[in-house]
Amino acid sequence: MSTHNTNFSTLFNSFKSVFKNANKEDDGKNQKDYGEVVFSSNYIPPMLHHREEEMKSLVSYFRSIITNPLASSRKVVLYGPVGTGKTLASRAFGNEIAVHLKNEHKIGNPVFRFFHVNCRKTKTPHLILTTILRQLIPGFPLRGFGVDELLRMFTLLLFEQNLVTLLVLDEIDYLIDDRTDFLYSLSRIEESPPIYESHYSNPTNINTESRFSLLMITRDKNFHHYLDSSTASSLGRNFIFFPPYTRNQLFDIIYARAELGLREECYNDELLEVIASLAEEYGDARFAIELLWKTGKLADKENADCIVPEHVRKAVVAVLPMEKSIIEELNCHQQLILLSIAKLLTDGQTKVTTPEVKQYYQQICEEASIRARRPTQVWAYLKDLSRLGLIKQEVENRHNQKGRSLGRVTTIKIRDIPVTDIIQSLNHLIED
Ligand SMILES: Nc1ncnc2c1ncn2[C@@H]1O[C@H](COP(=O)(O)OP(=O)(O)O)[C@@H](O)[C@H]1O
Ligand SMILES: [Mg+2]
Repeated sequence: MSTHNTNFSTLFNSFKSVFKNANKEDDGKNQKDYGEVVFSSNYIPPMLHHREEEMKSLVSYFRSIITNPLASSRKVVLYGPVGTGKTLASRAFGNEIAVHLKNEHKIGNPVFRFFHVNCRKTKTPHLILTTILRQLIPGFPLRGFGVDELLRMFTLLLFEQNLVTLLVLDEIDYLIDDRTDFLYSLSRIEESPPIYESHYSNPTNINTESRFSLLMITRDKNFHHYLDSSTASSLGRNFIFFPPYTRNQLFDIIYARAELGLREECYNDELLEVIASLAEEYGDARFAIELLWKTGKLADKENADCIVPEHVRKAVVAVLPMEKSIIEELNCHQQLILLSIAKLLTDGQTKVTTPEVKQYYQQICEEASIRARRPTQVWAYLKDLSRLGLIKQEVENRHNQKGRSLGRVTTIKIRDIPVTDIIQSLNHLIED
């Protein structure tokens, strides 16, 4: 029977899309950048909106990479909630320097290399270093060397290949395995440069050059608490805050994205207003852009001529705010601990104490016949949850009514995300 074939080809031929470049009659040849790609998370837009101050600070910290590449090592931290443009700013900035230096390059000058590593995917110091080394030496083996050896090799290459490097450690909150030690070693990478041949001919070189700069990106404004004092002090005040976007700012961001990716006749400002106001609660540009994209997909699926606010309302359930996707990635016990906190907080309490959480967690483990983790592990998991910005731990001095000290307790609050949402997404762990 040929009906299937006929149906398919009619379908293909009649398919229309709200996205640029998706339609049969579109000529996509010179428009590689347009269409659905502009909604993908690694797309770098031609312009960053409302980040002038932050970019200015970045330039001022790292300017000497351009003006005087070997002058000093720079270390900077970008922090702020998800979707505030930290990753984008760092990548756009690194690419910008690379292009600039390439154009200006003269033989004999150091060569600039930019590495952007996402610690959510590349979680250990070992993997981070092999990833970098593989970019410098194609085919570098994945196994066989320890972290210290890899660090030495990297330092050696900086000199041997005459490099100036900028390493971005993005989502550093996910870095595991001796995080403090690793950051300590990185921050002092050049204090003990390897002996290499030209040192013998020119011993004055030693310790005078700086070829490595570090940009760390975190969601946690207390990030420096996890560093040892020497690393923390080498960071100084080099922190740049990325605040959540306002509704108008979100509007401008998606306005520009819509112009690049959507057919003009398929949307209007009112639609973008609806999306911007939904995203306002999180101040999260990722959420806004993803929502716009999903909304377009939904319109296409319904074969609609244009996107209307009703599509937004339907699409919004499919777009997870970042916090929810972070929760999904936690291990089972981290999730159970978070669930315990959420349950304890349902009856109007705003905070709980660590012992209360531990006890409740043990209880739900027992009820669900799961072996509870030891107290030290629970304590470590609580730290993970605060590192990821899901909870906030505070030490409080408690007093009785007469003002006598009752000692210190650690209290726990849940951040940014409604307790009921957490319970809703995690209850399945203990039900059935
Ligand atoms: N100022 C901006 N201008 C244009 N697009 C932006 C801006 N800030 C963020 N975006 C976009 O929003 C999404 C999330 O930004 P991202 O840099 O990943 O946030 P963060 O790293 O802070 O979580 C990305 O698609 C990014 O391109
Ligand atoms: Mg990011």
